[in-house]
Amino acid sequence: MTPTSDAARLLAQMTLEEKASLCLGSTFWCTAPVPRLGIPAVMLADGPHGLRRQPGTNQPGVSGSLPATCFPTASALGSSWNPDLVRRVGAAIGTEARAQGVSVVLGPGINIKRSPLCGRNFEYYSEDPLLSGALGAAFVAGVQSQGVGTAVKHFAVNNQETDRLRVSADVDERTMREIYLPAFEHVVTEARPWAVMCAYNRVNGVHASEHQWLLSDVLRDEWGFDGLVMSDWGAVHDRVAALRAGLDLEMPPNIGISDKAVVTAVHEGRLDEAVLDEAALRLLRMVERASNADVPEVASAEAYEEAHHRLARAAAAECAVLLKNEDGVLPLDLTAGQTIAVIGAFAVAPRFQGAGSSRVNPTRVDSILDEMRAAAPERVDIAYAEGYPLDAGDHGEALRDRHASPLASEAVALAERASVVIACLALPPSDESEGFDRRHLDLPGEQTDLLAELAEVNPNVVVVLANGGTVCVTSWERHCKAVLECWLSGQAAGGAVADLLFGRANPSGRLAETVPVRLQDTPAYLNFPGEAGHVRYGEGVFVGYRAYDATDREVSYPFGHGLSYTSFAYTDLNVTVTGRPEDGDLLVTVSCTIRNTGDRAGHEVVQLYVGDPEAQVARPVRELKGFTKLHLQPGASGTATFQLGARDLSYWSSAWRRWVLEGGQFDLAVGASSRDLRLAATIDVTAPAPLPRLDGMATLNEWLAHPEGSRALRETIGTDADGNPRGILSDPERCVVEGNFPLSTLATFPGTGFDHNAVDELTRRFAPQADPWESARPTL
Ligand code: BGC
Repeated sequence: MTPTSDAARLLAQMTLEEKASLCLGSTFWCTAPVPRLGIPAVMLADGPHGLRRQPGTNQPGVSGSLPATCFPTASALGSSWNPDLVRRVGAAIGTEARAQGVSVVLGPGINIKRSPLCGRNFEYYSEDPLLSGALGAAFVAGVQSQGVGTAVKHFAVNNQETDRLRVSADVDERTMREIYLPAFEHVVTEARPWAVMCAYNRVNGVHASEHQWLLSDVLRDEWGFDGLVMSDWGAVHDRVAALRAGLDLEMPPNIGISDKAVVTAVHEGRLDEAVLDEAALRLLRMVERASNADVPEVASAEAYEEAHHRLARAAAAECAVLLKNEDGVLPLDLTAGQTIAVIGAFAVAPRFQGAGSSRVNPTRVDSILDEMRAAAPERVDIAYAEGYPLDAGDHGEALRDRHASPLASEAVALAERASVVIACLALPPSDESEGFDRRHLDLPGEQTDLLAELAEVNPNVVVVLANGGTVCVTSWERHCKAVLECWLSGQAAGGAVADLLFGRANPSGRLAETVPVRLQDTPAYLNFPGEAGHVRYGEGVFVGYRAYDATDREVSYPFGHGLSYTSFAYTDLNVTVTGRPEDGDLLVTVSCTIRNTGDRAGHEVVQLYVGDPEAQVARPVRELKGFTKLHLQPGASGTATFQLGARDLSYWSSAWRRWVLEGGQFDLAVGASSRDLRLAATIDVTAPAPLPRLDGMATLNEWLAHPEGSRALRETIGTDADGNPRGILSDPERCVVEGNFPLSTLATFPGTGFDHNAVDELTRRFAPQADPWESARPTL
């Protein structure tokens, strides 16, 4: 398409069949071209932490892609809490996409980590929607700054791999609005991605690909999304129903079936051609965007490979979370003459990315051992022992008798003569992947057994972890002084580990998900992964730290936690409230001073949590409502500033189907984690009281709680000659016992003072304001 082409003009020239063909791809990775009109095919490719461009345009499968930089996975990037870093990674991926002729990158994945068991959690950022949304938007901005589009995925409520193409996520609207949709809402409204990819699963019984409420009512009408909605690969089951619901592009294409079904449906009057036109137009606009990208050509991979590898290394260093560091064992003492024992097969064969559609063919891979050797000063010996076999997958049953393992014996002998031990532990790849969920949160037994052995002979053991989803540390962390959680941190993770252990980089990652004490403590434990085609989101809005804090449950490491080699002081909390919710200009401004009180430069992630202690609905004790990452030199101070509006204090009212700000007290706390709150303040916000919805099913108490409803009901019932209320209102005891009966039920009882006609009349009076959403009420 030439830069002057115009999607609408092209559409007008297209036949019905050509338009139908545009709504499915032409190959596994390409949209359909229309050569007659000069409309090219554009190429789509995975994925979120590096490009997976298959050499052939019609090549399925997940291996054999062209080399690309493998950046830290989302589980790692989530822990950076640094949107600017994620934007730079996105821009680098965008550049590589352009160099490889890819127009749209299939990512980021911004689904919420509902349960740590989800096999694909390594592709998602966080258990918190604010953090997921902020990082997702940064990724989109980065990729799209290079003239390459993104497809934000998987929309929506896609939080498990078990039965992922069929399972129905059964979730109430409040939970969706507060937990599972806000990240998408933020990315769509702030970063304007070119595309959104629908999820595989059903949502409350309806396939996401056919979910009119999700794809049209919410995404387009409420959020104003004007881009393209594409399917996940194979998510379409009824092409016509999907088109009607708002799904523009089916991938991969079901050629000869889907296009024919669309044409027939138009001919038979079952599908309005205008719906097809809209979908085709959106596709044409995306092709136009891809063709008109106003960015310089990328010369060659050599032009960026080195720089991107360096970025991957810096990013990995920023993502690692130092969970604990007793006696300041890290950074390592590099005095001449030391022996540092590096133990564990993963030190040589690193685990740095997950399996499935996001698997990148890296341009190179750094190992921890090589990078430590390269960075170590002279006369510091970096010695290695394998410790456990790389491929032992079944949690050590075979190796339970550790003395029987020559690998373990060799490692223990090395540890005995070393000044410090770096134990490189990891989840085996067979434990987590796209396509299946995990069954437990444990490291393999042969690794934790070995760790116990090492601790017996050396007091200075440091664990370096590589895992996509979180692992429990309860049974083994007493055997080490420090734990550096590196997640799956991309091809340059080895160098980043060396930088962190040697103190060339200062850890600044913070947990984007809670590390629980036991799997049984996790909020979705009783409802994951569901059965008989349904998974009930029974924990509601109490996901992640929202649940642990509500039940005051002990955790190993809380959301937001992460240590640094320096320390920070929090002072001078200042909170101002201006404006009014009724006027739409409520503004809460929170600021505080952070000072680096240690002797190294470092980053602090300052977190703002808000709680609403008294509300008509059950609310989390605290929720993340702002964060900022400050870089401070030793002794230097900086200011963290946050601004909150009415929405940040609101909950989603299921009764009114809108956000409701309930006036009263709000608790604000600023801290270094959800459980390390350093400064606190309380504010009072005045807001009109949330009124109950009034109709025949509203109870007597609800009618009486509504100032105008109460007046109208009292007028209807009337008073006696002395002005005292009549009917049910004359009997206080009856009011207590029957106060929670709907008005229409009471109308059938004698002596209440009103009948069905009166209830109908009252309902009519309040109907217009009773449910502004009624016409939009969908199958949720
Ligand atoms: C995954 C998507 C991916 C697509 C294309 C699907 O199986 O769920 O995330 O983008 O395949 O590889």
